[in-house]
Amino acid sequence: MQNAAFGALGLNFRYLAFEVELKHLQAAIQAAKVMHFLGLNLTVPHKMLALEMVDQLDPSAITWSAVNTIKFEKDPNGKIRSIGYNTDADAIVQSLHEDLKFKLAGAKVLLLGAGGAGRTAALKLAAENVAELFLVNRTQSKAEEVASEIRRRFPSVAVFVGYPVDKVDLILNATSLGLKPEDPLPLDETHFSFKQAHYAYDMIYRPAETPFLKAAKKAKCKTANGLGMLLHQGAKAFEIWTGQPAPIKEMRAALEMEVYQSGPKSKVRSPRSKFRDPQSKKG
Ligand code: ATR
Repeated sequence: MQNAAFGALGLNFRYLAFEVELKHLQAAIQAAKVMHFLGLNLTVPHKMLALEMVDQLDPSAITWSAVNTIKFEKDPNGKIRSIGYNTDADAIVQSLHEDLKFKLAGAKVLLLGAGGAGRTAALKLAAENVAELFLVNRTQSKAEEVASEIRRRFPSVAVFVGYPVDKVDLILNATSLGLKPEDPLPLDETHFSFKQAHYAYDMIYRPAETPFLKAAKKAKCKTANGLGMLLHQGAKAFEIWTGQPAPIKEMRAALEMEVYQSGPKSKVRSPRSKFRDPQSKKG
């Protein structure tokens, strides 16, 4: 999608994927800097470590405690500096709004997962003033930690660990369950039924329809997968690097072609996907 965007705007840039071991992350960032790269994207598991490895942090990276985008730019003395940003959190809200027409303010949300993606989503939902947030995670202590952080930073949000008793507006899957065909559902239906929700969003975008989304659709929920989130975090990164508005239409078309090889309905897997994005979740 980035190369399609560069092409659409006639920019002589290329977006390339590199596999970097954790122990080499600092060296890789430094190498990109001295080779005059325009910027970088980072994915799991580099996002939190990178906080310590850039010259400056944008407020977005500080707020969400993770860096997924780096920009290299000249400081007033002509020296190149690295600035770390986070474009993931805004992308969640943008995709919910665009793909589901869902408004977070005042909503009741059940969030499944408290890993890296789950934590960012939980904090962002709280920042968007959801009324009630229910956090469920296999390792309950991680959900408790996220809940404590929300209580500290966003005291107006009612946050609970565990399944709600009543209905919710939205169920959001931020676990990695659904990436593999043999995965169980991330939702324990003995505790909570899809019928108790109006909307369901899965951060996973490959396969296009996870068992979670299939079950939600069956229960008449309005559904969307995480492709919009991937698109918008990339579009925002593009704007940070180039200073120009992202050509969203071209980016979306390229993304759908790459991920689904035709359009969003197909479940064909890309043979290159494992190298490009091992988690097949938000980038
Ligand atoms: P990401 O950055 O994509 O969120 P992560 O930090 O490894 O990746 O988080 C993965 C999430 O999926 C976590 O919520 C994890 O639950 P734990 O915190 O208990 O590990 C969840 N997850 C992964 N495999 C799971 C499984 N087999 N059953 C239930 N939850 C699972």
